[in-house]
Amino acid sequence: MSEEVKMLTGLMELLPKRIIFHNLETAQYMRIILRMMGKSDLERSLMWKGCSPFDYHDIGKAFIPEDLFSYNERFDLKQEHAMMAHVHHGQQIFREVKKLNPLAAGFADAGEMIALYHHECYDGSGYPEGLSGEKIPFLARVCAVANAFTGMQRDSVLLPSRSFEESLSVLEEHAGTWFDPEIVAVFVGETLKELKTERELRRLREIKSQKPFEVHMPESIDESELDNLFTQNITVKTNRPT
Ligand SMILES: [Fe+2]
Repeated sequence: MSEEVKMLTGLMELLPKRIIFHNLETAQYMRIILRMMGKSDLERSLMWKGCSPFDYHDIGKAFIPEDLFSYNERFDLKQEHAMMAHVHHGQQIFREVKKLNPLAAGFADAGEMIALYHHECYDGSGYPEGLSGEKIPFLARVCAVANAFTGMQRDSVLLPSRSFEESLSVLEEHAGTWFDPEIVAVFVGETLKELKTERELRRLREIKSQKPFEVHMPESIDESELDNLFTQNITVKTNRPT
């Protein structure tokens, strides 16, 4: 394993399990969003030795004092600033990767942009630089949506987890303020379409299993692919690009 990959994976392993999982789950939603936007190939072009820059947006948390991860109340200002610094730590980590191996520059630059800017808001109210609109690098805007969506699916110290559909509504509510409205529109629109299809398929399947007559499947639906459809389209949890 090369030095830069060893360093990255070693830092990832320092993180609490739930944050490692959050990094990877956010990356999966980034892939889903990019696929919905017709940009599936982008990630492949940024890969380095089997590593995707999408997998490390919160890697900077490896340098956050450990007690903050188990703190069960609202942070005070000092704690909040310490936590916010993870974006700068992430930036430094990817700069180090580039220093260790200049050939990894494409991967490292993308990782740096995602790590540094994924808490910027579309209206300029985010951090660390208060960038707005398209001044925020595209992959960081994608990550912001994926990060929020992933975070909402889990209980946090301050908020209980939300349902899939509630989380989509929150994204819509903050389109144009926190999030890039174009990315939200594609993600929410396509996801709801797929959810609808999945529900229709489930309904058809239920009818088919209960009634003693044939139900005609819509022509566009290949019944043999029925079982895989939802998994492939929405809950992609394990498929990683090579
Ligand atoms: Fe973060």
